[in-house]
Amino acid sequence: MAHPTSAAPLVATLTAADVEVVIDASTGQLVIAHWGAPLGHLDHDALQALTDSGVPHSDLDESAVPGLMRESARGLTCTPALRGHRGRTGFSPLFTVDSLVQNGSRCLAVLVDEALQLTLSWTFTLTPEGVLLVDASVRNDGTDDYTLDALDVWMPVPERADETLDFTGRWLKERQPQRLPFAPGLRVREGREGRSGHDHTIVQCALTSRTGTESGEAWALGLLWSGGCRHLAERDTAGRGALAAGELIEPGEQVLAAGQVYRTPTVAAFYSAEGLDGISARSHAWLRSRPTHPSSPRPVTLNVWEAVYFDHDLDRLLALAERAASVGVERFVLDDGWFGSRRDDWSGLGDWWVSPDAWPTGLAPLVSRVKELGMQFGLWFEGEMVNPDSDLYRAHPDWILQVPGRTPPLARHQLVLDLANPDAYAHVLEQVHAVVSAEGVDYIKWDHNRFLTDPAHLGVAAVRRQTEAIYSLFDELRRRNPGLEIESCASGGGRIDLGMAMHADRFWTSDQNDALERQQIQRWTTLVIPPEMLGTHIGPTDSHGTGRRHSIQMRAVTALFGHAGIEWNLLEATDDELEALRRWTALYRDRRDLLHRGRGVRVEHPDPSALVHGVVAQDRSEALFAYVQCTTTPANRPAAFRLPGLDPDSRYEIRLEDLGGAATVQRREPAWIERSVTATGAALASVGLHPPILWPEEAILVSLTRVDA
Ligand code: GLA
Repeated sequence: MAHPTSAAPLVATLTAADVEVVIDASTGQLVIAHWGAPLGHLDHDALQALTDSGVPHSDLDESAVPGLMRESARGLTCTPALRGHRGRTGFSPLFTVDSLVQNGSRCLAVLVDEALQLTLSWTFTLTPEGVLLVDASVRNDGTDDYTLDALDVWMPVPERADETLDFTGRWLKERQPQRLPFAPGLRVREGREGRSGHDHTIVQCALTSRTGTESGEAWALGLLWSGGCRHLAERDTAGRGALAAGELIEPGEQVLAAGQVYRTPTVAAFYSAEGLDGISARSHAWLRSRPTHPSSPRPVTLNVWEAVYFDHDLDRLLALAERAASVGVERFVLDDGWFGSRRDDWSGLGDWWVSPDAWPTGLAPLVSRVKELGMQFGLWFEGEMVNPDSDLYRAHPDWILQVPGRTPPLARHQLVLDLANPDAYAHVLEQVHAVVSAEGVDYIKWDHNRFLTDPAHLGVAAVRRQTEAIYSLFDELRRRNPGLEIESCASGGGRIDLGMAMHADRFWTSDQNDALERQQIQRWTTLVIPPEMLGTHIGPTDSHGTGRRHSIQMRAVTALFGHAGIEWNLLEATDDELEALRRWTALYRDRRDLLHRGRGVRVEHPDPSALVHGVVAQDRSEALFAYVQCTTTPANRPAAFRLPGLDPDSRYEIRLEDLGGAATVQRREPAWIERSVTATGAALASVGLHPPILWPEEAILVSLTRVDA
């Protein structure tokens, strides 16, 4: 059928939370006619007239409009959404809309290509928070195989979106922003690590040149997927811009037999008229609305990795647990080194049983003391991996992802288990479950320390199967162990993505605990991931990642804005530092509701030597702001910083929180620090406050509490 049935609507309009999406099937192809701010009462004819650009010379006689499929058969030369073939033919699809059905905030469209014998189904769901979730699937209606190379979700952005923003990174330096002109051509960000990776972009954004964190328009697409990803931005020869996201399908990975269906991972599309903070607000609200979102108070966590590394000694760890509890820690996590022959990173991965060498009396003495002290107990695993020097590998060397006949190169002396192999999957699930249930583990830190190379199951690319297996394994562990929480770690922040956000409770944001580096990493990871899902720890005085030395104040302010914790040998901390930690954990406990439910604000500050950010309660009754002096200021007194987002008409008490003291170089403090002051939200947003003259790499924390209604 070439056109929708006459009873079916030709256009669907989804509207929620200041976002409107118009899906137009009136021409027989499926077109996103609008994605942005609501258009008011605009009829379909008028929208078509407004979006018609006339016909230039040297083009088709009637200009083609890129629909969701972007087919060459329609005269389009931009990147098509679907790529595939039936042997040597069937490479050029032409889909027409068979049906379009709107049901409240959801729209379903079915497209067919009768000649190619493919059916495509699209589902668009606009959540109450204004996030558009797009799912597509393709079914092979033919009798022979259809080889699928790509099925990407493309969303148009207006011409005024003249810049792109995406993210890159490496171990210890994840999520570094790259803002570039949105030039003609195709920008491709592909992740080929078989995990999202340190370089993963989480979202691909389009911005106007005026868009900042606090204001301006922004469009962003993110893939709910932890395997191979594609994020694209294309400006075609007609000057039209579009963003896309989709799974990176390896050659031969998706060959659809007769009747078989391929489903894309869900794509989340975020529009904001309130700058990048508006993208964050939408994403955080959407993720927080899930019934599975971690909603219990996020416990202060101590992870022992940077305190002891592989040196597991019961007495020392008991002393650390006592010390942790005494400063207010609520969850104690035993990291790598407790199992099999794992005394260093050369061996033991795959053997998930408590090592009698490292733990002659088992884990029970530690676990029971941790629990007596009122803390939860967490344990490290890296279940997708195996060391060649392990009982598991000696027994099953064929259980790894590999191209038959070759062994992939080692990374951190390890290989990747093939979780599409049901025996390998069952081994990991059963061994991990046995330890978790026997030892009373409340929380798993699950690592993934190497990327995949030659990721084949029986010779066929298997990144998708591997990715689905880890999701299913996490879900099963949580089903079998009610209340169990899982942290996703991959050498720090190497598997932070919107797909894993659906299966894990927390991410280890980065192995970088240097507070200065962390400021940037956290600023951008929170673009879509809410801070309560991001582990932010106070690291050792001398950073193990950079060798820099930061005050406890700088480290405490930085680690407050997330799921706070400590990763430091507290047995070496001074009494003053322990006292500062006690004050900090008390403040965190007191304000975590605000920190984890409020609206994040990244302040546009005129002085590039400082970063300013905060969180404002949804009812604007309170807020916390950090002013971070990253380098020395160019002027002899630093610029005032604004504290936006509060109720303009309410008055707020302003308090400087002391978390150990920031080093300053000045003759007198600004007056708001010396005496108690209240100010309106309007004044705080416009006049702001002058920071004290701080040493570089110092930070202050300002607390605001509404004193009138
Ligand atoms: C990775 C993690 C660290 C730690 C080590 C243990 O590097 O990111 O936090 O767990 O593994 O080997």
